[in-house]
Amino acid sequence: MRIIETKAEMLAYAAADHDIGFVPTMGYLHEGHLSLVRRAKAENKKVVVSIFVNPAQFNDPADFEKYPVDIAHDAGLLKAEGVDALFLPSRQEVYPHGVPLLTLRYEALMGRLCGAFRPGHFEGVLLIVHNLFMWVKPARAYFGLKDYQQYLLIQKMARDLELPVDVVGCPLVRESDGLALSSRNVRLSATGRKEALKISQALLKAKRDFSRYTQNLPFLKKQLTTDLAPLQVEYASFYDAHTLEEIEDFSKVKPQVLIAVAAFVEGVRLIDNVLVT
Ligand code: PAJ
Repeated sequence: MRIIETKAEMLAYAAADHDIGFVPTMGYLHEGHLSLVRRAKAENKKVVVSIFVNPAQFNDPADFEKYPVDIAHDAGLLKAEGVDALFLPSRQEVYPHGVPLLTLRYEALMGRLCGAFRPGHFEGVLLIVHNLFMWVKPARAYFGLKDYQQYLLIQKMARDLELPVDVVGCPLVRESDGLALSSRNVRLSATGRKEALKISQALLKAKRDFSRYTQNLPFLKKQLTTDLAPLQVEYASFYDAHTLEEIEDFSKVKPQVLIAVAAFVEGVRLIDNVLVT
């Protein structure tokens, strides 16, 4: 596996007429990330993974400082998966003039769910993903539906800026007990981890109840809130999976439904969702 640390080397690699599948990450890899790598491996001649903990997308500096890093371990996992190149740019390489003041924004979509609670977060994500696409030049790029809003925004950006890349959404990967895999899970104690299980349990229950009580949305929302107590919840509700608008009445629209939650456990912000079709 080739380790690439500069944009110039990445551009040269991409120019060698590769059919590249790309998986951008912030590292501390787990099975969720590896599921994207395997999909990319199956669908492309070459697979490039990037690891860059992007300061521009952390609205909370403490969260950035605490973000776990273990490049040697990550590189071992990626090598074992048969990844062709690991792009590992430094902060200076990515932001030679500091974090740019340019913002890419979708006004309505970024005002919902995570965007409403993390000012500047998705602007930072779109900027880095756009630039990574410029350097890696992938034919296809793989994103987890765990970060559903991120996936939606990146897909729209690629379409609207006519970036020549297919943005592929991949299923959310869970532990056997249901907990959504996340690099942040390592910050939970054994007790916190148990508490965090409430999130996936409440979501899976909401999904089961959904088909039976479709007409009784207030009941479904109340159940979801009750099932999450006493966690500190940022948002938890039923959303139109295309616009991310909170659904007020199922009888009027029949959208694809996203049930999504963001909650804090032991100060760690966790997100999870299920799609109902
Ligand atoms: P990161 O949190 O490292 O996630 C990298 C990719 O792995 C994202 O597409 C994310 O949705 C996916 N992923 C994480 N946990 C997953 C799970 N349990 N199941 C399936 N996929 C999962 O997302 C980012 O990094 C950054 O915002 C990034 C796109 C790299 C831009 O900096």
